[in-house]
Amino acid sequence: YQNIIAIEDIPAFRTSSEEFFPLEWYKRMLNDHPVYYHEATNTWNVFRYEDVKQVLSNHQLFSSEGKRTAISVGTGDKGGGIPEKINFTLKDPPESQKRRALVSAAFTPRSLTSWEPRIRQVANLLVEEIKADEPVDLVQALSAPLPAMVMADLFGIPSEDSYLFKNWVDVLFQPFEKGNEQETQRKKMEAGRAYFEYLYPFVVQKRSNPADDIITDLQQVEVEGERLTDDEIVRTTMLLLGAGVETTSHMLSSLFYSLLYDDDSLYGQLRDEPGLVPQTVEEMLRYRFHISKRDRTVKQDNNALGIELKQGDVVIAWMSAANMDERMFANPFTLDIRRGNSKKHLTFGNGPHFCLGGPLARLELDIALSAFLQRFGKIEPVAFDLERSLVRSAPGQSLTCLPLRARE
Ligand code: HEM
Repeated sequence: YQNIIAIEDIPAFRTSSEEFFPLEWYKRMLNDHPVYYHEATNTWNVFRYEDVKQVLSNHQLFSSEGKRTAISVGTGDKGGGIPEKINFTLKDPPESQKRRALVSAAFTPRSLTSWEPRIRQVANLLVEEIKADEPVDLVQALSAPLPAMVMADLFGIPSEDSYLFKNWVDVLFQPFEKGNEQETQRKKMEAGRAYFEYLYPFVVQKRSNPADDIITDLQQVEVEGERLTDDEIVRTTMLLLGAGVETTSHMLSSLFYSLLYDDDSLYGQLRDEPGLVPQTVEEMLRYRFHISKRDRTVKQDNNALGIELKQGDVVIAWMSAANMDERMFANPFTLDIRRGNSKKHLTFGNGPHFCLGGPLARLELDIALSAFLQRFGKIEPVAFDLERSLVRSAPGQSLTCLPLRARE
């Protein structure tokens, strides 16, 4: 297992709200400390667009393998451990590419097209439950359930079990925090076991009854003579859940927060011009997905960042700071849904490990927002205490609730 670097202290935010929207910190780091050594964690930190992109993508110098990492999720369970055959996240090319291919077969454009109606169905189901004119918590109603339910559906799990499924997922990917490691670990083991016991029989059964779903895709793929066993498939689903559920929930909540509090004219503009939805999602991924970062370990001594890096040094690339770099984005601190190059954001990473689920995440966000826009003419904020409604999560701080009132 890798050693987890406690990253919380690097930015030293005074409040959770500051961490939820840390633009001042980015500004300071981008201008004054673009390459910053942090002593307590013994890490190098980079913020500017070109540096972040290079650290993420130049695998000859910056490796995804290493003994220390800033990624604090993981299932921490034997059953949830990523099997060697598909461990592409913590490997470099060329090795990682073959392993990645075993999983990426499930994420082809063809799959996405065929999933679209299914995602729409899940989104509509949730949006239809929302009552007009009454305060509703958007997190409970939409952003928390949607991504787990979509994944359950795409795995081919019966929809009546999807809440059960979601509960395990919540526990499995709860981040570790100082002080609660043991208790968290115990709960994760339990959830991991329950999840495994639930899913395994489904996987076995699909061998003889293939269906149009991700599990079947994973069973059919063969790369250079290699195939996945049923056990490996269960664990692959865990990898996908770990990477794809909380991130998408976080983005969905942040997107609605932004529509309510960053610019309250946007909702109306999107109603008038629904064609702007994909561009809006892209700009939100740039502007409202915070504290996204990835670490790499220096593979060979180099000077690529203008400082002397030694083999074994850990470099942390702060993607959400890079998304605010004026060298790449004009007026970066302004939310502009008509911006021409929003899509250049680094929220999904860059290079050989670019987010495998990026197209799926985009689709879920587009569909959820569109479903909401179709049903409701207006949204209004309902007063709440932001500081008390945030919780530490893999991406930094996530909303635990977001009350709003929707009008027809
Ligand atoms: C990798 C972000 C949704 C599956 C990544 C990476 C980032 C990222 C930054 C790059 C890691 C690196 O360079 O080391 C996000 C965000 C999402 C999202 C912001 C939502 C808004 C999803 C979804 C899935 C997914 C929905 C799949 C169901 C993966 C996988 C990897 C990955 C499997 C590993 C790729 C590799 O190491 O080659 N994601 N992701 N992600 N993501 Fe996502």
